[in-house]
Amino acid sequence: MNYHNLKGQIKNCLKPLDLDETELETQVNLILEDLTGLQLNQLILKDNLNLNPEQEIRLTTILNKRLSFVPLQYVLGYAYFGELKLKITQGVFIPRSDTLELVFQVINIINSFKTTNLHLLEIGIGSGAIAIALLKHFPDLNITGIDINPKACKISKENAQNNGVAARLKVINTDLLNFKQNSAIYHGLISNPPYISYAEYLGLDRQIILNEPKTALIGSDADGLGLYRQIAKYAHLITQPDFIAVEIGDSQAQAVYDIFKNHNFTHINIYKDTNGLDRVLTVL
Ligand SMILES: C[S@@+](CC[C@H](N)C(=O)[O-])C[C@H]1O[C@@H](n2cnc3c(N)ncnc32)[C@H](O)[C@@H]1O
Repeated sequence: MNYHNLKGQIKNCLKPLDLDETELETQVNLILEDLTGLQLNQLILKDNLNLNPEQEIRLTTILNKRLSFVPLQYVLGYAYFGELKLKITQGVFIPRSDTLELVFQVINIINSFKTTNLHLLEIGIGSGAIAIALLKHFPDLNITGIDINPKACKISKENAQNNGVAARLKVINTDLLNFKQNSAIYHGLISNPPYISYAEYLGLDRQIILNEPKTALIGSDADGLGLYRQIAKYAHLITQPDFIAVEIGDSQAQAVYDIFKNHNFTHINIYKDTNGLDRVLTVL
């Protein structure tokens, strides 16, 4: 058995999931890397890729879970976000590669400030993907992350520990609505908030609806944009940040722009992701 035979067999088993070819190929490679501990380039070159009984059992377990629509990241117990490998458990939002655009824009803003020792507040830290990517990029940055979900708080702390940035990340389990702090000054507010309406949620992929936490997906208010309203209000009430950077849904640019405009913010910019879709809004 070589890489191509085994890949073909696993692809066949996953056919009922109806994934597009690129996604199917990615998932099969991740499964094979997980099973064998080998990188893709090593797998391709190996003539003999016969699985031992233990690997066979793990493969069967992985395939059965996938066929019952459990996302691969929950099955394997980790997800990749750019170059980061993050622990993920059921009940915690799986980081998406679209969100790398927010990280990229925040890096640009921080570089443009030319000041050091900044302290950011992340609203809805989830697995810690955004915060940890930023903390790894800027060795003098500090972040406080809040999340309404206790599981997310636990996992983000673990991920910060595993990535060597725990000393610069403070995590607080709270709803933004109840978050009060007296002395801390945040130079920037960042967030990838839940931003879809309940009606949009019902149209999502079955595997998302069955597995991912609703509180990470459905935003408050009928249009799903409630957390942007809270962030705009919070920024004025509690802290006076030098910048705000948020991820937005690809059809929400105008609506979120109006929210910040109505709170008297100026210098609002929208940025597209690599697919040409509106993805990030910044306020300077
Ligand atoms: C879309 S997920 C983003 C997670 C992570 N930042 C990322 O990009 O992968 C939104 C996160 O916001 C949290 N959240 C939702 N409503 C919140 C609120 N009112 N206050 C604090 N956190 C909230 C959810 O629990 C979830 O972890």
